Amino acid sequence: MAQRLGLPLLPVGSDPVASEQVDAVLVVSADSLFLQQTGRAAPGPVAVEFGSTAMRHRRRSGHNELLGRAVGVGKKPQLRVLDATAGLGRDSFVLADLGCDVILCERDPVIVELLRCGMNAATARGDQWLVAVLARMRLQPGDARQLTAGDRQGVDVIYLDPMFPQRDKSAAVKKEMALFQLLLDSGAAAQDADELLLWALQQDVGRVVVKRPPRAPNLAQQQPSHCISGKAVRYDVYVRRKLATR
Ligand SMILES: C[S@@+](CC[C@H](N)C(=O)[O-])C[C@H]1O[C@@H](n2cnc3c(N)ncnc32)[C@H](O)[C@@H]1O
Repeated sequence: MAQRLGLPLLPVGSDPVASEQVDAVLVVSADSLFLQQTGRAAPGPVAVEFGSTAMRHRRRSGHNELLGRAVGVGKKPQLRVLDATAGLGRDSFVLADLGCDVILCERDPVIVELLRCGMNAATARGDQWLVAVLARMRLQPGDARQLTAGDRQGVDVIYLDPMFPQRDKSAAVKKEMALFQLLLDSGAAAQDADELLLWALQQDVGRVVVKRPPRAPNLAQQQPSHCISGKAVRYDVYVRRKLATR
């Protein structure tokens, strides 16, 4: 993996807390992979954990309904969604749990490894629910804009969540933001996000859905067809045609 990612390989047993040569380490074990910032004040590790208690709670508490409504779950059986900004895969997992076939596209190679490992680990747990959900998820490494027509075939909805919210106070999000800021150039990501929406709007799909912080301006100054707003999140929905008519 170190070779594939072009990263230096530290000796087995290296202590991430004590390491001063690097900002973060990827810790690999037989059945897990996590990213850990180095140094004494570093927040805890970040991993992709489908089926975690937090995910199960989110499912039971109905938090997933808004996302389902935004992409149009129920308007067509087996809706196919391209999650063009897969990140740690939580939104993809929610969509697959709601019955969608999901292509998870992620361009950062380290995040791709975290996703791949999280997906394999969840399938290996043998939990029937997890296995069924994971069977509807397909990982597609690379920039979404470079996908071929074949990769995008049959996609009904393009889903975008290009940026982490700037002012989210929750500890979990802060921890992830710190790591993502290390990995990804957030200035470039903001610029890219506009371009990504403009690209998505040119594709032959039923709708494009963008996740935004509640009071954030529209991406690329594009007016959505409608918005679905919750307390902590807003979904901007750009309807191109009826989902059922493909
Ligand atoms: C805010 S995170 C997405 C979080 C995700 N919705 C989740 O639930 O975990 C944004 C991710 O999109 C990725 N990304 C941004 N632009 C992309 C593009 N054009 N193609 C593929 N991935 C992209 C970034 O590398 C980052 O991992």
